[in-house]
Amino acid sequence: MNITKICCIGAGYVGGPTMAIIAQKCPQIEVTVVDLNEERIAAWNDEDVDNIPIYEPGLSEIVKEVRGRNLFFSTNVEKAIDETQIIFISVNTPTKTYGKGKGMAADLKFIELCARQIAKIAKDDKIVVEKSTLPVRTAEAIKSILDNTGNGVQFQILSNPEFLAEGTAVQDLLNPDRILIGGDTTEEGQKAIQALVDVYANWVPTDKILTTNVWSSELSKLTANAFLAQRISSVNAMSELCEKTGADVNEVAKAIGMDSRIGAKFLKASVGFGGSCFQKDILNLVYIAKSYGLHEVADYWEQVIIMNDYQKRRFSNKIVQTLYNTVADKKIAFLGWAFKKDTNDTRESAAIYVADDLINEQAQIAVYDPKVSAKKVLADLDYLETRTTEKNNACVTSFVDPYEACANAHAVAVLTEWDEFVQYNWQKIYHSMQKPAFVFDGRNILDRAKMEEIGFVYQAIGS
Ligand code: UDX
Ligand code: ADP
Repeated sequence: MNITKICCIGAGYVGGPTMAIIAQKCPQIEVTVVDLNEERIAAWNDEDVDNIPIYEPGLSEIVKEVRGRNLFFSTNVEKAIDETQIIFISVNTPTKTYGKGKGMAADLKFIELCARQIAKIAKDDKIVVEKSTLPVRTAEAIKSILDNTGNGVQFQILSNPEFLAEGTAVQDLLNPDRILIGGDTTEEGQKAIQALVDVYANWVPTDKILTTNVWSSELSKLTANAFLAQRISSVNAMSELCEKTGADVNEVAKAIGMDSRIGAKFLKASVGFGGSCFQKDILNLVYIAKSYGLHEVADYWEQVIIMNDYQKRRFSNKIVQTLYNTVADKKIAFLGWAFKKDTNDTRESAAIYVADDLINEQAQIAVYDPKVSAKKVLADLDYLETRTTEKNNACVTSFVDPYEACANAHAVAVLTEWDEFVQYNWQKIYHSMQKPAFVFDGRNILDRAKMEEIGFVYQAIGS
């Protein structure tokens, strides 16, 4: 099968970067990314590539190179479906906020809408690729919708989970550890798999392209995220023990990470993991395990989330306790709001929950994040529905200058590990703050000795 046209439904953090790289690496393929969100598509088409809706190092340069050549962004979903051979589904699959499985299961309504739309429009055979992280056996549901409402058109459903991490998406896409493609074992299924393998083979060595059945592929994605999150919760659990015993979690992580069986990555103790995937995927895994009656399996994985929630709460409690058990009317400066550095994504960011706790204690939060807007900060707090927008507005102020955010603060809390925070003139910050000046380093990025020498009361995670 010679692929010359690909479309992707969903112009978000996954669809946008992934399609930009496919377009760059496969100039012979016309790639169209469609989304219902007109504002988002307009931003992807903005003449100034610095205004594209997603910040990822290196992405705007690639968009500049390929947009209008063989990469197109559009709101015309029907046309794109009609003309394409392969359809990637990269729409959001948030945790359900209503009904059965509320707070646990993935909400598949956006996926189902896509499937129904594809079924309605398609007039010739298509390959449909699940790119969003989905619960195991979603492919079956998509197939059922396509086969039963379609016009006799043949659909092949592939699972091709995305393993990119935000902040390093471009590098992850250019040099992936592996590409995973799951499909039917039938001859038609194998042909579809091969067509997608051929697309990736334009830049990925074939020994890194794994093919499996659909269910293994779907479950591998959930498992990979669960294992990664589990490492963070494990090291965060040790961080509290380190604080009690006088051990230093960075030293412990280094010591265990040098064991090649354990490995050094994903052992950074922090204020807790965030992002759109880890929590959602584990909750989803827990829900699936429970639905099969596997309660021990469900409880085992749920503990990873319980530990993460505890780590976030522990951080805000520590701030309150250290500031003489009250933060009422005290200015607390937040350095960072994104869930990790080098992204403007704030989904499930620990900063949101820490701020929410501190606002309950009547603190005044001053936020500085190099890539997150004031509007987004407020929207994130409003989303929790803890209090009214007016009240959130009264308790949180965003700054475009980090020094202004810190001036007169009783404490600075580092919530995201942006590189620039390490370079700041901390002497200057110290002078502008209330004394004693506290720093709570939720990312362990600052140098304790230097901070203490300046005069800060410095508290890190796990030491
Ligand atoms: C994750 C997976 O890594 C990726 O493969 C998958 O496709 C999507 O989910 P992402 O959420 O973008 O990617 O970022 P990741 O680098 O995994 O970080 C997730 C969270 O864990 C961040 O809040 C990060 O700060 C935190 N983290 C990560 C730690 O606290 N300690 C670590 O050692 C690593
Ligand atoms: P992810 O991190 O998985 O990429 P995002 O929320 O960033 O998630 O992006 C998902 C995108 O999918 C959103 O821009 C949303 O508007 C889009 N979307 C959701 N449902 C549909 C649909 N039926 N048709 C087109 N686009 C959709």
